[in-house]
Amino acid sequence: MSEFDKITLTAGDKSFALPVLHPTLGQSCVDIASLPKETGCFTFDPGFGATASTRSAITYIDGDQGVLLYRGYPIEQLAEKSSFLEVAYLLLNGELPGSADFAKFEHEVSHHTMMHESLKHFFRGFHHDAHPMAMLAASVASLSAFYHDDLNVDDPADRKMAAIRLIAKMPTIAAACYRYSIGWPMGFPRNNLEYVERFLHMMFEVPSEPLQMNPVAAKALDLLFILHADHEQNASTSTVRLVGSTGANPYASIAAGITALWGPAHGGANEAVLKQLQEIGSADNVASAVLRAKDKNDPFRLMGFGHRVYKNFDPRAKIIREMCHKVLAELGVNDPLLEVAMRLEEAALKDDYFVERKLYPNVDFYSGIIYKALGIPTEMFTVMFAIARTAGWIAHWIEQHETPGARIGRPRQLYTGHDVRDYVGIDQR
Ligand code: ACO
Repeated sequence: MSEFDKITLTAGDKSFALPVLHPTLGQSCVDIASLPKETGCFTFDPGFGATASTRSAITYIDGDQGVLLYRGYPIEQLAEKSSFLEVAYLLLNGELPGSADFAKFEHEVSHHTMMHESLKHFFRGFHHDAHPMAMLAASVASLSAFYHDDLNVDDPADRKMAAIRLIAKMPTIAAACYRYSIGWPMGFPRNNLEYVERFLHMMFEVPSEPLQMNPVAAKALDLLFILHADHEQNASTSTVRLVGSTGANPYASIAAGITALWGPAHGGANEAVLKQLQEIGSADNVASAVLRAKDKNDPFRLMGFGHRVYKNFDPRAKIIREMCHKVLAELGVNDPLLEVAMRLEEAALKDDYFVERKLYPNVDFYSGIIYKALGIPTEMFTVMFAIARTAGWIAHWIEQHETPGARIGRPRQLYTGHDVRDYVGIDQR
């Protein structure tokens, strides 16, 4: 936190004092709102590496120390003691629930899990090999067609209902995307099951026989969902907030977040990591993969390495790495890709290129190996991420609507195009 309360800028012979805003934890921020008026200048920060876009009380990250807190609670404690649904409640409401509040929340979520039958018709428009993230984004956006006219984003009760519906329906829609792609009938949610088990049933149960649920699988997925539930103003959450700032329907706002998540530099990395590990194939090829990643003339990057904020280690990766070994052992899975991943991590962590740039394995480096062990197909990995991150996205969307004086998000630019010029007729060009 900065010791200064003001920062003075000098422009020509004039000086301007800009107020410094102090957080509860972390870095202070210079309030530059008066800068254009005082100096005629905007600030220039491509990729927003030095810009706080909002005040937020949901999640705190210290990238240098590898700290991640949801509403003040360390991720390590939540991973060990909580459940995804309890974490979702915490993100939305700011406090851990008492047992009556949690029972009510669980009841509400489990009673909004079904998809409107008409929504199922939308799937038929997709080719069977459509990417599930494309189907998920389109289906969630189309929820806004079902819940729009009677939804008032300024009404707290309507906002809460949107949050419940999104958290409840996301696993149902996600499982439908998978089942459509393999030609299975869409399953119905079973409300007697807990959140993650219900999802696994919808994914894998066939009408012809009951599913034998492995509790290790459900526990592992629940933990992955906790770790992915929120990550402050990342690209997809900032997208949800930008769309939300226009007053757009919450389902449309979350659909925009899903599309932002899909990119391989963000949530799409978990799918890319597994594909890359498969391409590397064996521990013998690790050294040449590391060489390629360091070659500036080669666009190849080690997927699952590096993070905009974590410059020491990603605390989620640490938990997932441990869990990966445990889950594979408990499920009796012997995956050679785990060996490739460990050799790759080892080689990168002692290589100067990665050390100097502070590139460490991120949350997605090991998550794909666990998803694979649970029988989840590679193309569904980012969908898993989206189910979990929905809790964070909608918590941010609600916080944004609860913040007094919130304005539409509208960045500025440094224009580098032509100066004004006159139109020339086509016969004279
Ligand atoms: N492999 C090789 N080199 C890398 C990698 C990598 N995975 N990541 C960064 N670098 C290098 C860059 O080439 C750059 O080198 P230079 O300084 O010599 O030009 C330097 O490290 C800094 O990289 P930037 O791209 O400027 O870092 P930025 O903070 O913008 O990007 C990002 C972070 C997108 C995560 C990046 O590290 C990356 O592409 N990683 C691989 C994809 C990935 O795993 N994404 C998931 C992120 S976690 C999540 O969203 C859930």
